[in-house]
Amino acid sequence: MFIMPAGETHKTLETVQFIYRWLAERKAERGHLIVAVGGGVVGDLAGFVAATYLRGLPFAQVPTSLLAMMDAAIGGKCAVDLPQGKNLVGAFYQPKFVLSDDERETLGIRILLNYGHTIGHAIEAATGYGSFLHGEAVSVGMMGAARIGEAMGMMSSDEVERQRSLLESYGLPLTCGEMDIAAVSNAMLSDKKVAGRAIRWVLLDGIGNATTRNDVPPELVHSTLERLSRDEP
Ligand SMILES: NC(=O)c1ccc[n+]([C@@H]2O[C@H](COP(=O)([O-])OP(=O)(O)OC[C@H]3O[C@@H](n4cnc5c(N)ncnc54)[C@H](O)[C@@H]3O)[C@@H](O)[C@H]2O)c1
Repeated sequence: MFIMPAGETHKTLETVQFIYRWLAERKAERGHLIVAVGGGVVGDLAGFVAATYLRGLPFAQVPTSLLAMMDAAIGGKCAVDLPQGKNLVGAFYQPKFVLSDDERETLGIRILLNYGHTIGHAIEAATGYGSFLHGEAVSVGMMGAARIGEAMGMMSSDEVERQRSLLESYGLPLTCGEMDIAAVSNAMLSDKKVAGRAIRWVLLDGIGNATTRNDVPPELVHSTLERLSRDEP
């Protein structure tokens, strides 16, 4: 295993030469497979090494950044940078295969992407999926979650305001207008994250620090929904 330092500054002929020597010392043969495990920097660099060492070794891409999975590992382009410019020395060289395998998230952190979704999904359901686009409902839900976080002492009013102005700057709705609160509350209990009738809320413990809580008082949820329904963000 050859481990290279992270970052674009290492996508250079110097690193390539280091790997050539590393392969030569280990008597790499044409039949050996190079497996590039990493982001686009590793994929581009390892692909170039594979294309050129011994006039070509088979190689495989195992992209581990989203960009590499969706772009860099696909298409067979590989290159390194020169001081004069990016990707100036390279080749078109297809990998034998691309292994993109993040299929099941097991750490439980993916739930944090559901910030704003508990109220958002419920608003979508309660309005028959016809009034709000998904992203719009999530925006309203984020506003609700921020108010809940504020009331629970997790977010300052300045932080809530920062989020509010950000959503507003994208032209997203901050409130839902008059709403059947009972229907929204009922829809929330059908949320997939409910366990033992307790809703698992994704809240912010300050900006950039999402966390989950299942102890949000129902009265606080109710008053937050009322507020959103009165068009008060
Ligand atoms: N060949 C192509 O067609 C093509 C297309 C688009 C981009 N690119 C190239 O891709 C590069 C950018 O790719 P990128 O955004 O993946 O950047 P990157 O390879 O620098 O990776 C981004 C960050 O993620 C970290 N990382 C990646 N995998 C990790 C892992 N398994 N564990 C821990 N940390 C990990 C890296 O250390 C790095 O800090 C650029 O050099 C660009 O030129 C190539």
